[in-house]
Amino acid sequence: MAGITLAGVEKHYGRMRVVHGIDLDIAHEEFVVLVGPSGCGKSTTLRMIAGLEEITGGEIRIGERVVNDLPPRKRNISMVFQNYALYPHMNVRDNLGFGLKIAGQPQAVIAERVREAAEILGLSELLDRTPAELSGGQRQRVAMGRAIVRHPDAFLFDEPLSNLDAKLRGQMRAEIKKLHQKVKTTVVYVTHDQIEAMTLADRIVVMRDGYIEQVGTPMEVFNHPANTFVATFIGSPPMNLLPGRIEGGQVRLAGGEAVPVPARLAARVAEGLEVVLGIRPDDISPVGHGLGEVAEPADITLTVSIAEPLGMESLIYTTIAGQEVQAKLYGPRIVGPGEVLPFRLALERAHLFDAETGDTLEAR
Ligand SMILES: Nc1ncnc2c1ncn2[C@@H]1O[C@H](COP(=O)(O)OP(=O)(O)OP(=O)(O)O)[C@@H](O)[C@H]1O
Ligand SMILES: [Mg+2]
Repeated sequence: MAGITLAGVEKHYGRMRVVHGIDLDIAHEEFVVLVGPSGCGKSTTLRMIAGLEEITGGEIRIGERVVNDLPPRKRNISMVFQNYALYPHMNVRDNLGFGLKIAGQPQAVIAERVREAAEILGLSELLDRTPAELSGGQRQRVAMGRAIVRHPDAFLFDEPLSNLDAKLRGQMRAEIKKLHQKVKTTVVYVTHDQIEAMTLADRIVVMRDGYIEQVGTPMEVFNHPANTFVATFIGSPPMNLLPGRIEGGQVRLAGGEAVPVPARLAARVAEGLEVVLGIRPDDISPVGHGLGEVAEPADITLTVSIAEPLGMESLIYTTIAGQEVQAKLYGPRIVGPGEVLPFRLALERAHLFDAETGDTLEAR
């Protein structure tokens, strides 16, 4: 059993503070994804867990052990990097077994572990090939295989797919998910790609500037973002944010128009409060073209700026209260620039944030 606990973990480089006392509990066998923009401290956090980076303050535990002062090789974790280097002159079998050989494992153990890893990863037929004779995805699987053979307590991945093209990335994403179902080991996975985070994670950790903004299941962070940062970082295209003010039970948008306050938030807003209304493109559609059942509809006439047909749906750019907004049209209908249409907002799925702090007004 090996969960991972971070308690008040800090990292400073001289006067630069890049990780500010983060707390995180990762359960045994959990798949946790650290996501956030470039420079927010994801790799630094992962490298501190691996022991490749000293921690400036706080405590890291793997299982029951405090590992603050343990060297990487004593932590029993495996790290898979974005730039994996396979030994070009060795075949797949030897690449997989090399780490165990160096560690002095008996031949029979090595053979068995390699066989097992190759089977899990679908490499059994490729054991005699050299890396040059493999596709990019197969090479990536060998790199993961080298981690698997060690039977670690946890896998750490740092953007393992970012060098692959989009199609292969999608395939490998599915493979990593399958791998986790088979091997059932604790995983900490770093990416700046929110789709990777949504699809892989049991829980997502959204980071910004060395702080954790929110921890939750993919659906929690998507449906209940803690603040405007998470709201726009998770979900694609991003949530629309419209500044406004509470007036007589309505949100008076900065451009003059008003929409009702979502019913579930009615008791949480005071008259005169400056707010930001958040609504996803999927929750704004031309009337009759998509939303299905809407519990709290708000209708508004909008002019299409441009539309991007994507097959069974179109992404529409329009403006509400002077702000550019993206909306979705479901179905094959094509609309063009300048078209004026009635749109419907599904307000039951809209969010309100405090304009000053950016924090959600939802009960948390
Ligand atoms: N050795 C170092 N010395 C000084 N600052 C560093 C060092 N390593 C990283 N940093 C800084 O720490 C911050 C966090 O870096 P980190 O590599 O953890 O970011 P990241 O979230 O992994 O970003 P990316 O998505 O670009 O990989 C950055 O501002 C970076 O410039
Ligand atoms: Mg990084």
